[in-house]
Amino acid sequence: MGSRFRPAVTLPILVFLQIIPGVTGQYSIIPPDSPVLGVVGDGAVLPCQLQGRIIPEKLSIQWIFSGSSTESAVATFDGKTPQNPFLEFEGYRGRTEFFPSEFHQGNLSLLLKNVRPSDQGKYTCSVFLENWYDQVMVELDVAAQGAEPSVFLDGHAGNGISLSCRSQGWFPAPSVVWLDSQGQTRPEEVTTRSTPGPSSGIFDVVSSMSLELGSDREVSCRVVNEVLNATRESRVRIADSFFPSTSPWMISSLIILCVDLGILGATVYKMKRSLMETGKAERSRKEAGTERLRAELDFWEARSHAVPVALDPEARPLDLGDAQDPLQVPVLVARDALGAGKCYWEVELGRERDWALGVLRDGPSLAGPHSRDSRHSRHCWALCASQGQLFSSGSGSRLLREQSRGLSALGVFLDSEEERLEFYDVEQRDLVAGMSLGAGEDPSGKFFPFVSQGEEGTLRIRSVPMPVPL
Ligand SMILES: *[C@@H]1O[C@H](CO)[C@@H](O)[C@H](O)[C@H]1NC(C)=O
Ligand SMILES: *[C@@H]1O[C@H](CO)[C@@H](O)[C@H](O)[C@H]1NC(C)=O
Repeated sequence: MGSRFRPAVTLPILVFLQIIPGVTGQYSIIPPDSPVLGVVGDGAVLPCQLQGRIIPEKLSIQWIFSGSSTESAVATFDGKTPQNPFLEFEGYRGRTEFFPSEFHQGNLSLLLKNVRPSDQGKYTCSVFLENWYDQVMVELDVAAQGAEPSVFLDGHAGNGISLSCRSQGWFPAPSVVWLDSQGQTRPEEVTTRSTPGPSSGIFDVVSSMSLELGSDREVSCRVVNEVLNATRESRVRIADSFFPSTSPWMISSLIILCVDLGILGATVYKMKRSLMETGKAERSRKEAGTERLRAELDFWEARSHAVPVALDPEARPLDLGDAQDPLQVPVLVARDALGAGKCYWEVELGRERDWALGVLRDGPSLAGPHSRDSRHSRHCWALCASQGQLFSSGSGSRLLREQSRGLSALGVFLDSEEERLEFYDVEQRDLVAGMSLGAGEDPSGKFFPFVSQGEEGTLRIRSVPMPVPL
């Protein structure tokens, strides 16, 4: 029993090892009947119950941990040095506690606080009395239940859309099931990947699948921790307008609806006017209301073309000014060119006060998007904030607003067929600016999104979440 018990740390109490275990038969340690389950961040009691008629005061306890590849001392209680009997070891400082008031009842359990994934493994409790020693092993299983998952619309895939479900904070790696409106497992093929945090060991999970047009539109993503038997689930219903092929029909019907509302508004307005001579303010409010609805529909339409964008981490200078007033800005450019047609992506502005973002066009006549050539300025269209002002850059710099504050995320929508670039305030679901791309010098070139590097480094591309939670 004692032969595999060779801790890295030599302790005075190890002298007791020479005593043959359990000879007197007076004492025994009750082995635990099942592993202990520790939840990450919580405490777990590792049981060690000594049985005997009288529990002597002069006892010593040693807890040793054996993980998959390591063995280390955790904590000891040495009854022979009453002035300082407790000792904690590296990796466990401030994390262990004995229950000395219960020693006389034989309760030699150890409380392990703030449990981590790396604590998973076997713990040996060794008990040393005057002329007796024995040990018992306890297994600790570690688990963590993560956050509620979020479902994201990643983009279009053929006739359908690709969805991903993300959740953080799981241990061990969870499983993910996608369910339909009946709560049944969906037939679509699913790819799930869990990545452990570099130091924490806690898993983040991402699961993806494609939803074809015509399949059950109610989608639920359920993340399961099999150790805890705990689940977290998010359910969304995907509107028709998110599918590429129904999109034009849906949008036109919504616009007709929107126009109808406008007519209705006008009728109500006429009646009201005849009754009480309402002023001009009323009319402009109603028109603004219809305008607003239309802007919102445009936003959702744009957003349904969401595509993933990955930035090259290396910054390069880009000239966003004009011939009289050059303005060199370090920018991060997308690794891949955008596809043809309509593309939408979102940029989080973070704490950045001065920023620029948009697209640049690269063609065979240029040295590539990664060149330091300032000729790119003629092929670049951007929205910029500087000193509290918002302006466009591209077809000549133009002031848009005196105030650039209040924007937290911008949606960028590129329609390469219409040769238009639009910027949306994601929070307000409203158009901030639109610009024509013009033919440019090389209309065959491809578009690359970019964002300025910023001093705070907080500008980032974010995934577009599904906007229609059930
Ligand atoms: C020992 O005492 C602690 C603290 O009171 C308690 O949580 C634990 O269940 C006890 N262990 C046993 C084996 O009785
Ligand atoms: C998990 O929980 C469900 C519902 O709470 C229960 O029906 C099931 O028996 C549990 N499974 C296990 C293995 O404990």
